[in-house]
Amino acid sequence: MTEKQVRELLNKMTVKEKINQMFQVSGHLLEEEKGDIVVTGPLEELGLKKTEIPLIGSSLGLIGAKKIKEYQKKFMEAHPNKIPHLFMLDVINGFRTIFPIPLGQGATFAPELSKKCAKIAAKESAVSGIHVTFAPMVDLVRDARWGRVMESTGEDPWLNAQFSKAMVEGFQGDCLKDEYSIGACIKHFAAYGAVESGKEYNTVELSEHTLREAYFPSYQTGIEAGAALVMTAFNTINGVPASVNKWLMKDILREEMGFDGVLISDYAAVGETIAHGCCADMEEAAKRAIESGVDIEMMSNAYVSSLETLIENDIVPEDLLNESVYRILQLKNKLGLFENPYKDADEQKEKELILCEEHRKVAREVAAESFVLLKNEDILPLKEEKKVAFIGPYTSSHSIMGSWSFIGDVKDTITIKEAAKSAMKGRNVSFHKGCPMYRVDDSFAQFSPNEQESVMTKKEEEALLQQAIQAAKEADVVVMPIGESYLQSGESMSRAMIEIPEAHMNLFREIYKVNENIVVVLFNGRPLDLRELKEKAKAILEVWFPGTEGGNAILDVLLGKRIPSGKLPMSFPYCVGQVPVYYNHYTTGRPFTGADHEDRYRSKYLDIPNEPLYPFGYGLTYTTFQVSDISLDKTEMTKDDTITATVSIKNIGNMAGKETIQMYIQDVSSSIVRPVKELRGYQKVMLQPKEERELSFTIKEEDLRFVLPDHTWGSEKGKFRVFIGQDSSVKAYKEFYLI
Ligand code: BGC
Repeated sequence: MTEKQVRELLNKMTVKEKINQMFQVSGHLLEEEKGDIVVTGPLEELGLKKTEIPLIGSSLGLIGAKKIKEYQKKFMEAHPNKIPHLFMLDVINGFRTIFPIPLGQGATFAPELSKKCAKIAAKESAVSGIHVTFAPMVDLVRDARWGRVMESTGEDPWLNAQFSKAMVEGFQGDCLKDEYSIGACIKHFAAYGAVESGKEYNTVELSEHTLREAYFPSYQTGIEAGAALVMTAFNTINGVPASVNKWLMKDILREEMGFDGVLISDYAAVGETIAHGCCADMEEAAKRAIESGVDIEMMSNAYVSSLETLIENDIVPEDLLNESVYRILQLKNKLGLFENPYKDADEQKEKELILCEEHRKVAREVAAESFVLLKNEDILPLKEEKKVAFIGPYTSSHSIMGSWSFIGDVKDTITIKEAAKSAMKGRNVSFHKGCPMYRVDDSFAQFSPNEQESVMTKKEEEALLQQAIQAAKEADVVVMPIGESYLQSGESMSRAMIEIPEAHMNLFREIYKVNENIVVVLFNGRPLDLRELKEKAKAILEVWFPGTEGGNAILDVLLGKRIPSGKLPMSFPYCVGQVPVYYNHYTTGRPFTGADHEDRYRSKYLDIPNEPLYPFGYGLTYTTFQVSDISLDKTEMTKDDTITATVSIKNIGNMAGKETIQMYIQDVSSSIVRPVKELRGYQKVMLQPKEERELSFTIKEEDLRFVLPDHTWGSEKGKFRVFIGQDSSVKAYKEFYLI
């Protein structure tokens, strides 16, 4: 359709039809009965009449080519203007082929891999009838207590911005009409990751400066990459819920960021402004949401219950409605739905493409790239002659996909045991669960949908433990797959104690008593307090929730067929009291420079160090690298000039290895306080033993910019430092000047 035809269509629509375009319900509420789509109880509660349902503009959660084609046919037949329905779904780290959770993807420091994953996810979703995914989530995260840190690529604005762009490009391809392209939705606008005390759905209070500088960049790059939708956040921002925040949605999102796509509310977020105490009733919520430019209201009924009256009474101008509906129709048009309302839905292709070998291969590769080796005292890779006991509940658990993998099927995942049985054939290996995945009194246990776990009695637990202890005594090396349950991170899964579940730690301690040669394979969706493991385990391999091919990828790395090279995308705190802890914090007037600092009146704790247990950017490999001093080609640059910073990196170990060398910049003196350092570049290098290579980084004026007091991005003349090293704790720097 041409834009003119879209306008003509809009002109033909009644107010009621338009409002229906702006309403989205969960697909499971649309049920088939005697050939009709009918209203179920919950929909009636949302204020809908049976006759209205076929006219609804979109739904979330329905999948399957056959089912969606049937629904679409009915929607089209029922609609007086033949407007196709939009089918949306949360496709986060994969559709059916599940990739590592986004936090794990952040650890690859390779946005191009996330683009690959998003492309595959789009393909699998598209053939299943999906038009739009509610991804990527690009919220900056600094607080490990928040359950949704697993959905983010981490704490660095610059790196997140790159992942955001890559994922949007992966989902959408060059053009939404193209085969296997689906619409991407940047979420949650804005700053959902900054909920106070890491508690879900909590308040966000941020200075405008920090909001702009740290939080906005990842939304901005996703929008610049052409994201078709943006989703509002549940939280308030400085007192106003995002979904009715006119400043945020109109002035910032539409005007400054130039977003002209569809703005959708988060689930029931418009209605929840009443609970926030910010709107008196649905009428006020509808008025404020549409005035803020929210085009689709998901799962609350402010628009369907109130907009018509508000327009009739001239409280809301019909022009606002037209603007929103035009954007929705344009989205449908860009997806090519007016010409082909079924888009790529295809039963045959579902069979051919979903979970195909090629997709699994990528899942295995990306999972291995996401693993972060936190510690290794010469125990990994596992040596051929060693007798290995795998002990821990994740040894044969299929629940390794993370909490947002609704379509992923546990039956498709490869467990560690399955992978080891084939990769270590003929070697001396044994497998033991050791303890239950969770206990019935664990607070999250009630959410378990279909965990294959049955609850154990104390006696059964004891028997498991004894069998594991015996195996550990007989083994040379114990590999312990332990960690958080996938039910402990994700939406509504905030934790105040960021520890490994007691049952798993207890198992670790019991095994440690009889065999100290322990390699921990750690599953988790957030940074955890790892002090005890760091002290006692010989090696720790962080594997997050690795997805469908998790077991194979883990064995690849444990056996050295692949070299671990992931880097932490979020600082791992020393303990929970240090949270939020992030490397790019602002400078203080009384910095604490080290344990030997004698001055009592310094910015520090009495009882713990300032440094996190593992810093952002940290991750080992199976060899050791040496990075030389930095040399600069000059020490002064103008705005149009660049400086080249060079280091030499040498593999001084005995194995080949891949390292991610990172460049950080500090603005030493400026009109407002700046972070102690900020990531501005990285390069990956693969080196054979004893091989040495020079790496050069170009510093541009753009790398020196920040949000100035007038809220524009710019740089200021003066002194800067450049740091180049293996993680964000790098100390060595060279100074230069912008003149
Ligand atoms: C989440 C969103 C998600 C939506 C639809 C909400 O609870 O916050 O991220 O896209 O549900 O499933």
